[in-house]
Amino acid sequence: MAEEAPKVLVRHDDAEAFVVNLLVAVGVSAKHAQTIAHGLVQADLRGVESHGINRLPSYLARVRNGVLDPKAEPELTQVTPVVAQVDGHNGFGFPAAHLAMETAISMARTFGIGMVSVKHSNHFGMSAWLVRQAVDAGMMSLVFTNSSPALPVWGGKTKLIGVSPIACGAPGGENSVPFILDMAPSVAARGKIYKALRRGEKIPMDWALDADGKPTDDPEKALQGVMLPMGGPKGSALAIMMDVFSGVLSGSAFAGGVTGPYDMSKPGDVGHFIIALKPDLFMSLEEFKQRMDILYQRVVGSDKMEGVERIYFPGEIEQLTEARRLKEGIPFVQSEIDALDAEAERLGVAKIRRGL
Ligand SMILES: NC(=O)c1ccc[n+]([C@@H]2O[C@H](COP(=O)([O-])OP(=O)(O)OC[C@H]3O[C@@H](n4cnc5c(N)ncnc54)[C@H](O)[C@@H]3O)[C@@H](O)[C@H]2O)c1
Repeated sequence: MAEEAPKVLVRHDDAEAFVVNLLVAVGVSAKHAQTIAHGLVQADLRGVESHGINRLPSYLARVRNGVLDPKAEPELTQVTPVVAQVDGHNGFGFPAAHLAMETAISMARTFGIGMVSVKHSNHFGMSAWLVRQAVDAGMMSLVFTNSSPALPVWGGKTKLIGVSPIACGAPGGENSVPFILDMAPSVAARGKIYKALRRGEKIPMDWALDADGKPTDDPEKALQGVMLPMGGPKGSALAIMMDVFSGVLSGSAFAGGVTGPYDMSKPGDVGHFIIALKPDLFMSLEEFKQRMDILYQRVVGSDKMEGVERIYFPGEIEQLTEARRLKEGIPFVQSEIDALDAEAERLGVAKIRRGL
């Protein structure tokens, strides 16, 4: 299996520079290219390779097919002192969501809370990079998005609702890591199936059904079928919740109307919903951080069930992976590097630099 295939190591800053070059070559401004590169490489650093720079070929194909505007400038409208709206104008989802979080943080600094709804956007990759943006500014946050149909609703058999991630976070204290929850409401994110397909790997049998409604370990068949919601009706309800807050509320597509990042037929029309919240609204920041330390210590210090060596806080495994990959580089399989290099060749920019 390709799991054991030798990996090509790439430094995170080389990966970012490569992404910026590719994006600038298709007309994205240097500023937005940097934001997109940061979001994608963060995913690779955190071990969320399903949402890293390997998404680029599909994003660039959208640009080439004229269904994503590389030059779009997200437009901000202030609705109330604590509420704003961003129109992504069918540009990349990353700059639209980044602007939304930046605005939410700025409102939260003044008023305690900031809420931004985003419409006419596109896929923004891994939600955790936006949660990190808030954590780095000392803020708690909620980051919701909707996405293209991938899940049947509970009791249904055809795809209707997106595998739309639910993400939120809070800064940690002196002796704890930040809380970063970022999870798809399916048993596994669909990006993990695309990753298995790219790498020639099989998937666990409980992730998806094939087109005939049978469990499958073949990623190709899984992509022709449906993803399975986590926790049955509860996962389905969480996916619908993402659509209420990100789709219905924003004015973007909803109820199965979002176009997926691999569908080149029309704009994505994705919606996002972002809240930033000051953690010291009800007590001093110091006390909040001490309480996060207590929570962290109690969680990771819990009595362990048999076979468990260590208990982690949400987001902690990814943080440890990031610390390691910042030093040791990001591992890719050769076929992923080849696909990225093919894009570079097509656009006449330098291939991705390998090695440390
Ligand atoms: N933009 C989109 O449309 C879209 C759609 C789907 C998924 N995604 C992204 O896909 C990514 C993967 O989602 P996923 O649901 O497969 O994530 P996952 O199952 O790997 O992790 C989900 C959450 O559980 C935590 N976690 C996992 N293992 C843990 C452990 N042993 N101990 C403690 N906490 C643990 C993680 O820190 C994370 O917060 C996410 O980053 C998500 O944003 C994006």
